[in-house]
Amino acid sequence: MCGIVGYIGENKKAVPFLLQGLEKLEYRGYDSSGIAVLNQNEIKIVKKQGRLKVIKDILGSKDDLHSNLGIGHTRWATHGDPSDVNAHPHLSKSGKIAVVHNGIIENYINLKKTLSKKGYEFKSDTDTEVVAQLLDSLYEGNMLGTIKKATDLLEGSFALGIICTDYPDTLFAVKKDSPLIIGVGEDENFIASDIPAVLSKTRKICRLKEKQIAVLTSKNIDIFDFSGGKAKMEISEINWNVDAAEKNNYDHFMIKEIMEQPKVLNDTISPRLKDYSIKLDNLNFTEEYLKNLNKISIVACGSAYHVGCVAKYFMEELIRKPVEVELASEFRYRSPIVDKNTLVIIISQSGETADSLAALREAKKLGARVLSVVNVVGSSIANESDDVLYTWAGPEIAVATTKAYSTQLSLMYLIALYISKVLGTITDEKYKNLIENIKLLPEKITGILKKASSTEEIAKKYYQTEKIFFIGRTLDYAVCMEGSLKLKEISYIHSEAYAAGELKHGTISLIDNKTLVIALATQDKLFDKTISNIREVKSRGATILLITTEDKADKISDIADDVIYIPKISNILSPSLAVIPMQLLSYYIAKFRGCDIDKPRNLAKSVTVE
Ligand code: M6R
Repeated sequence: MCGIVGYIGENKKAVPFLLQGLEKLEYRGYDSSGIAVLNQNEIKIVKKQGRLKVIKDILGSKDDLHSNLGIGHTRWATHGDPSDVNAHPHLSKSGKIAVVHNGIIENYINLKKTLSKKGYEFKSDTDTEVVAQLLDSLYEGNMLGTIKKATDLLEGSFALGIICTDYPDTLFAVKKDSPLIIGVGEDENFIASDIPAVLSKTRKICRLKEKQIAVLTSKNIDIFDFSGGKAKMEISEINWNVDAAEKNNYDHFMIKEIMEQPKVLNDTISPRLKDYSIKLDNLNFTEEYLKNLNKISIVACGSAYHVGCVAKYFMEELIRKPVEVELASEFRYRSPIVDKNTLVIIISQSGETADSLAALREAKKLGARVLSVVNVVGSSIANESDDVLYTWAGPEIAVATTKAYSTQLSLMYLIALYISKVLGTITDEKYKNLIENIKLLPEKITGILKKASSTEEIAKKYYQTEKIFFIGRTLDYAVCMEGSLKLKEISYIHSEAYAAGELKHGTISLIDNKTLVIALATQDKLFDKTISNIREVKSRGATILLITTEDKADKISDIADDVIYIPKISNILSPSLAVIPMQLLSYYIAKFRGCDIDKPRNLAKSVTVE
């Protein structure tokens, strides 16, 4: 959460870069924004509550902020309301040091008490202002030394951008448990929370490692670790196109990313499939290792957790080992039973989710081997895992994930098939059939997307509904969880995903003639059971939108008010298709309701605080 940027150059171009960079990072938080630049030996700050546009408008009318050095921030509030005073950057008491921060300073209250005794006053409610005043209190003329001392005293997670009036040609950056990259330019260098912020300027990127400090001038970059040793800078070249992080002609990133799914699924699956053999990059699970596994634990947050919920069903069916799925925020604090014979799979789009990263570290501490399924190359989760498999979804900008979910799911299918083949728990016939069907996924998803306008029509009918249930059984139920989350996060309609067979144990009392029930029925063996559950809610007044496979058309009669058909595929793989109309439905409902689809209220794309 929160996006930070920084610039050091020679041509007084700090402000345009900071604004342009922040625009690309607004997905990380957008309740306030601000910049600080060094101008005529003085730090000048412009910061305001509200979207970036507010400070852009102010800066458009100011012509005195030309500068070679500056930092900027777009905020997702953790400590203190979204307000002008709580917006970053924060300035130190002496006016010499300004700071932008992403993360949480866990011991800020104690530090605040100590600093207050030394005469420091605090204007904001933020933890970040403490960093500015702490640096001020430690500063004796050597900024690098001061930052090192401060890192010994700060607890929690912090990516920082720092400027100081005594260093008009230097930008300082710090990374601990929150992402930070350096963009290497010519006669100018940059820092940012994420690559898209610098991509219009440079493709040469260095990802700061844990506990590193960077000292940047326009011509030079030095990296140190917190203990003071000089570290090597590893530069990589970004090979994806800047267009991948642009909206192009779409109204929103979300719909662009939904439409990209056939391509990114293909990019994720096809390099790993050769005829009927699966090659999972450098992953090598021996038969002995797999045989000794007592269980597989999938740990993740949000939609990535929902991928795990789907995977549990098919993994247990194919691998015949227990598969647990757990929210990372729970796993990390509950003494999980995990040891060297447990394979822990962490799923994360960003690779920076604080709870997932902490769960990974906990699992490793307990002796488990950790495999991560990650989208962002070189992210913290990818770096710290024993094995990594990347989803090749490209940059995902919309807060609501779509293409990352789909690629994660496709990789989980490959992992399950790979393991079941090594273990011999799958017949040749079933294995081959599933591989053939996996190869068909991109084409079948294209077919669903071509009919998006009919889902839009259905959305138009129901967008004013305020109470929605998603029901299904087994794999369908797991997909319903994702459908419900998608709808909630972007349309603000309260919805709930329920196991269809469980409704009658209490929740059915909520069903009335104002309720829309979205029923998912793709599993052949369970179709009639789900239809019975649909009848139960229909007879209590609910309106029914049924999502099912084309082959069921003649079995439906008048049970549903509306039906969305998806192509037939092996039952196990149907979640990959079923989620698509759910994504489209959420998107169009939110659009009809006039919601801010790519930046829903209270949310941020990358949740780097716990
Ligand atoms: O980056 P991650 O996949 O670790 O993020 C996990 C969740 O925060 C994320 O899936 C979130 O639930 C999405 N906004 C859902 O659309």
